This record gives sequence, C-alpha cells and structure tokens, in this order.
Amino acid sequence: MKLIVDANSNLGIINRNIYGHFSEHLGRCIYDGLYVKKGVKVPNTEGVRNDVIQYLKQIRIPNLRWPGGCFADCYHWRDGIGPVKDRPCIVNDTWGGVTEDNSFGTHEFLRFCELIGAEPYINANISSGTVQEMSQWCEYLNAGVDSPMTRLRKENGRDKPWNVKYWGFGNEPWGDGHMRAEFYADQIRRYDTYVRNYGDNKLTRIAAGASSDDLNWTETVMDRAGQFIDAYTIHHYTFAGDWTVKGPATGFTQEQYIATLERANMMESILRGHSVVMDKYDKDKRIAIFVDEWGTWHDVEKGTNPGFLYQQNTMRDAVVASLTFDTFHRHNDRVRMANIAQLVNVLQSMFLTRGSKLILTPTFYVFDLYKDHQDAVRKASFSETLPLEGAKTVQAFSHTASMKDGKLHVSVTNLDNTKPVPVELEIWGMDPKKVSGVVLGEGKADICNTFEKPQTVKPHELAVAVKNGKLVFELPPCSVATLEISEAAAPKAKAAPKAKAAPKAKAKA
Ligand code: AHR
Repeated sequence: MKLIVDANSNLGIINRNIYGHFSEHLGRCIYDGLYVKKGVKVPNTEGVRNDVIQYLKQIRIPNLRWPGGCFADCYHWRDGIGPVKDRPCIVNDTWGGVTEDNSFGTHEFLRFCELIGAEPYINANISSGTVQEMSQWCEYLNAGVDSPMTRLRKENGRDKPWNVKYWGFGNEPWGDGHMRAEFYADQIRRYDTYVRNYGDNKLTRIAAGASSDDLNWTETVMDRAGQFIDAYTIHHYTFAGDWTVKGPATGFTQEQYIATLERANMMESILRGHSVVMDKYDKDKRIAIFVDEWGTWHDVEKGTNPGFLYQQNTMRDAVVASLTFDTFHRHNDRVRMANIAQLVNVLQSMFLTRGSKLILTPTFYVFDLYKDHQDAVRKASFSETLPLEGAKTVQAFSHTASMKDGKLHVSVTNLDNTKPVPVELEIWGMDPKKVSGVVLGEGKADICNTFEKPQTVKPHELAVAVKNGKLVFELPPCSVATLEISEAAAPKAKAAPKAKAAPKAKAKA
C-alpha cells in the first residue's frame, strides 16, 4: 500500500472539539461511571472518580455534553441544585425507569468539567421545559450582575459565573416532543430571544438537527432559523443490523463486522449531504456541524438492564472510531465538534467500571492515538485503493495526517480483519529524520478488555523502517496506528568557529 502525505499542504485546522464526549443520565454513565455517591468507597475528588479524571486528562478531553440525550428533554435543572438532601427524586422514565435522586446536578457537572479541563456543553430541555427555564439556567450559570439567578447561585456556593459557551436547544426534537421541522425552527426563534449573552461570553447556539440522512429537517431549520444559530447537530449511530435488532457487541459474524463498517462509513455521505444543504443558506460556513452523538450501538450485555445500554467494546469499535475521525478530518471546514456516545458504561464508551475497578476500552486508545491531531493543520494524504472483501462502500485502508509544532502525525487504519497491510509512506516536503509509531490491534476484530483480562488490547510500539527515504511498516489485521514524524532539530549555531557539527539524528528503525 503506497501512502503519500504532502507536508507542505494546508487543508485547515482540525478542531480539537471533534474529540468531544457525551455523558447522559443513562444507566451507569453518571452514577457508578464517573460519579461516586456518598459512602461508596472508590477513590474520588469531590465525588468524581480519580481514575476517570486521570484518563480523560490523558486524552485531552476538549468538551463534554450533558445532561442528555433524551434525558435532557425531561430534565428540570432546578431539581439538581442546592443541598443534595433537599433535591427531589424523579423517575428516569426514558432510561430504565430507575430513580434519579439528582445528586449530580449543575454544580457537580461544572466541577467535573473543571477537574478534567473540558468545556461544558449544556443541552437544555425544550420539549417538556419552558423558555423561562432555559433562560434562567443560562442566567444562573453565566450572569455576573446582581440578579435573582446570580443570588441563587451564590447561595448555593458559587460566586463567579461559569461562562458556559455551548448551549443546545433540545435533543432530537423529531422524537423528543415529536415536533415537525417547521415547529422546531419556530421554537429556536423563540428560545433564542431569551437565552442571552452575559458580559463578554458569546454563546454558541446549537440547533438539534437531523437523524442520519434526513436532509429535509436540515433544509427547514436552515431556511427558517439559520440566522439564529451557530451550530447544527447530526446524530448517527452504527450497528450491524437495524434499530430493532442491532447485533452483538462481541461474538459477531464476518457479515456483521462488514455491515458495521459500512454503516459507520455512511458518515461520509451524511456529512456531504447535510453540507450541501447548509451551503445553500450559509456559503461562508459560519454555522458549524456538531455531530454530537455518534458511535456504535450494539445489543446490551446479557443480564443487564435493556434501558442501560451497557455494551462491550472490541477492536471493531476501535476501527469504527478511527474511520469516523478520518471522515471528520476530511470535513474540517464544517465539522467543528463531535461527541461520541457515551463516556462511561454506555454505548461506545471509553471506560467500563465495576465498583472500584475500571477498564480502558479499545476506543479509549483510539482517542489517545489521535489526540495530537487536535487543533493541528490537516495535511493532504493519498493512497492506493484497497477493496475490503464483502464491502460495497468502505475501503480496507483509511488514513489522515496533520502537523502541529513541527511534528507530523499520520494515522492509518487497516479495516481488513483477515490480512495485514504492508505500508510504504512517502512524505513530500519533509525529511523524516525522527520517527516513532504506536499501533493498537493484535490481528483480530473480536477482542476486548474484560475485568478479568484488562490488558488484552493495548497499544504497542510499531516497528518502522526507513528505506530510500520512505517509511515502511506493516499494520496487523484490524488495527489502528499513529506515526509521529519530525525533521531533526537544526544544529545550533555557535559563536565559536571551533564548534563541532552536531551528530546526525538516526531514524528509528
Ligand atoms: O445516546 C443514547 C440516546 O440516543 C440519546 O439519549 C438520544 O439522543 C439518542 O437517540
């Protein structure tokens, strides 16, 4: 496989926010996942699991969406502030019919974001909530001037405003509230009026967009409410079957493996389709696409609550993630945020927890392998085509490249789970003097980490040889790798004429 990267090209910045996450009051995402209730013995900082903090910092989580999802559209934020003992219980009818005691609310979420260094993204309730509720939530979070909501916030222990920038107008309104696109567009116009900027904090106003390829929704919202929004969301989930029978997370067949990749690869045509419609109304691309729910959705693990969406995570999920990131990179002109669903114990998560134990999923490692693409300049990369047996739309080899601080990062994926792919990488405009590589994948698609064997899938050093100025390496079946390439540091100019020449840096073979 010949791969060329043009280090001199400049295809725009890859927004770090496409590496964002999503945490909903769903199953064991919040409680047991990232937050520990009083009395539970798991090492934590103000209730947030220390292991979660550590690993989210490691992957440089840029932003976090909360409190849903569908839960957002039945969430009333005032239930989740003030002394925990006084907060009302509700029943989480959307997810599993369990009691929600509201002990993780606004202050806890924003503290969590501070601890992990992520920008909060609040998704407000516009289906069962009111304009006043959203307007006051925004005032509570962002107002610096003396006001009823500022006073309430101060009574609850927070003096300074948080200046939250990202605000979503509801979730999937075509489902939550069964709205028609015309009605929803009018709702945006109403809500927009009363959700205000405070001080210098200019809000990013986010309209809930289409499910997968529903271009009609996009057309209507852009036409009627485009001028009131800064971002438009798309949700797209990946499974082997259909919405009713999705297919197992592990123990899948070869047909299910290919079907999963085909569905993940639909992201390309979905983004193209919505971009074409958006270009009609917004040719300067002022309005961003936020893919604020994406990822794999498999059948739940046996014996778990069907409403909790708890699933295992294999190398198949890992290559879905890398393929999706490569797609987002190609659309970096519009796609400026994305949020994988979801953070812990739900759908395609980063972590699975059991009591004080936590395991890292293959998907977590893909976020780690791709973190250097955050805010980097996208570089052009070209390869030969490599058909994937049994697939109609998806190729066996995917790649992306970017440069930041003089370092070129090239990520490559072998989607074929039956054979390795030898790669010969040529870089235009750069002398690859210093090279290192990390690879994730042991040659099989259906492998995962478990509480019994938590280290089955983890990254290893990739052997890279330099031959005639090209980088040569082999990707195992179903694997993802990132190479870091830089030119040797220029020898320092010394004042004294006697100074010896700096030794040449050796490329790592
Ligand atoms: O992520 C799980 C659910 O999927 C979300 O709550 C909803 O927005 C979507 O349908």
